This record gives sequence, structure tokens and C-alpha cells, in this order.
Amino acid sequence: METIKTSDYQALQIYLRDACGILLRDGAPDLARRRLRPVLDNHQLASIQDLLGRLDRPGRSGLKEAVIDAITMSESRWFREASVFSMLGDQVLPDIAGRDPGKRVAIWSAACSNGQESYSIAMAASEFTEQNSGSLVEARVLATDTSRSALEVARRAHYELGPEDTDITPLRKERFFRSIEKGGWQVSPDIRALVEFRELNLLQRTLPGKFDVVICQNALVYYSAQKRKAILGRFHAALNPGGYLIAGSSELTGDMTELYEPIACPSGTAYRKK
Ligand SMILES: C[S@@+](CC[C@H](N)C(=O)[O-])C[C@H]1O[C@@H](n2cnc3c(N)ncnc32)[C@H](O)[C@@H]1O
Repeated sequence: METIKTSDYQALQIYLRDACGILLRDGAPDLARRRLRPVLDNHQLASIQDLLGRLDRPGRSGLKEAVIDAITMSESRWFREASVFSMLGDQVLPDIAGRDPGKRVAIWSAACSNGQESYSIAMAASEFTEQNSGSLVEARVLATDTSRSALEVARRAHYELGPEDTDITPLRKERFFRSIEKGGWQVSPDIRALVEFRELNLLQRTLPGKFDVVICQNALVYYSAQKRKAILGRFHAALNPGGYLIAGSSELTGDMTELYEPIACPSGTAYRKK
């Protein structure tokens, strides 16, 4: 596939908007071409036109999901966005622990991709409970995504750690990882035991439970304002009173103050359910 014809790109934009609520911005056909290349190869399709013709045909199971995965890009990083982890450790967990000492905190890591963000949340919460004895008993993380392949990687918990993973300090590596004989690192059993991975589409109405904290970043940016509003409504419904939403600014939409008290932290704003 060399280039995407303008008419095919527009048809792809319309399909993603109408069938999935995903906004593919104008003028990014090269990006779409790069991301969809492996999908076309795996499904033996020659062009975007071919792909569009087969997307909703019976017998093409997994094609639509593969396109959504490719466009919304399943990738994550260790301790991604320092601001999220500062808000969690400096405001959210101390506030919850102060109100209810000895509590078991439930955290929803929404759109977790291949797990690094969700394990980082469990690691940060464990550091907090270890450094503040008597504050919280533990924090459990439910991590959800639509991508089955990303969830498989997440459950395996086996990663390469490189020089770019600067937040995995030697101390964290020693405390939270085990080296693997064949190469690479696996998240330690105690952290793995705190994180459950589950398939869940945020566009569907199902709520996976009740939580004290919901964390979602780098996922809703692909969706229309209407879809984001609906998803944010579900996050609100899933939070316990006084629970917190921590979300990237590209996730948020409209006026949050009707439902949340914005808590200004040095690194950003966390939203506490009213
Ligand atoms: C770029 S990754 C972000 C991962 C992680 N939150 C982070 O910031 O490191 C975006 C993830 O959102 C997931 N995603 C996109 N749309 C979704 C939906 N409707 N329901 C659940 N997950 C979705 C994708 O599968 C992908 O794994």
C-alpha cells in the first residue's frame, strides 16, 4: 500500500466515526497507512479500499477490532505522565487514607493497553502504603481494555526494560521485578496479584464495579466529544462518593465542576466526586 487516495481516507474517516465513534483527523493519511499496514498484511488485504469493503462482512471476525487497535494504538509506558503519579501519591491516596485509615483502595485503570501503566499504579500505591504504615491496607487495580492482544501481553507481565525506562530505578527493579532466564523481566508476583486484567469496551454501558480512583489517559482522545461525555459519565457512576478521577486533559470534555470538585495539585488537576 503506497498512499491512501483522498476518497478512501475520507471513507475510512466516516466509517470510524459512524461505526466506532473514533475521530481520525484530517490530513493524516500517512499515519493511518503506517498503523494499518500490519492489519492489511495479517488479513491479506491489498488496500484501504479492500479493507473498507470487508470490514462489516460476516466471516471477518476480528478485523474491526484490529483496525480500532491499530488506530488507537495499544502502547503504554512505565510511570507514564509523572503528573498522574504525583497526584496519586501526594493528593489522592493521602486524602483517601486520611478519611478512612486502613482502607483497601479500589482503582480502575481504564484503557490499560499492555499493562505498564496499570502495574505502575500498583507499584506506586505499594510504595505509598510501605512509606505510610497504617494508612491503607493495600490498593487493588482492575485494568481494562478492548484489545485482546494487549491484555495477553499485560497478563504475561514479561517486559524488556531499557535505558528509556528511566522511572524504573534500580531500587524499583529490585523490588518489583524478577529477571527471566531467557532474557527480560517479569513483574513480581506480589504486584501481579494486585492487578486483575479484564476485557471491557468503554463504549458499552457495563460498569466493572465501584472504585475509589479511576485513572484514564491517552485513550479518549480518539473519540468524539459525545462519546467522551458518555464514557466520563460512566466513570462518574463507577466512583464511590469522594472518589477521584485522574485523566489526561485530552480525555476531559465540558464542564467538570457540575459533578466533581477540581483539586488543584502542583502537577495538574484531580477531580473528586461531589
Ligand atoms: C495509547 S493506549 C494508552 C494506554 C495507557 N492508558 C497509557 O496511557 O499508557 C490506548 C488504549 O486505549 C484502548 N482503547 C481504545 N478505545 C477503547 C475502548 N472503547 N474501550 C476500551 N479500551 C479502549 C486501546 O485498546 C489502547 O490499548
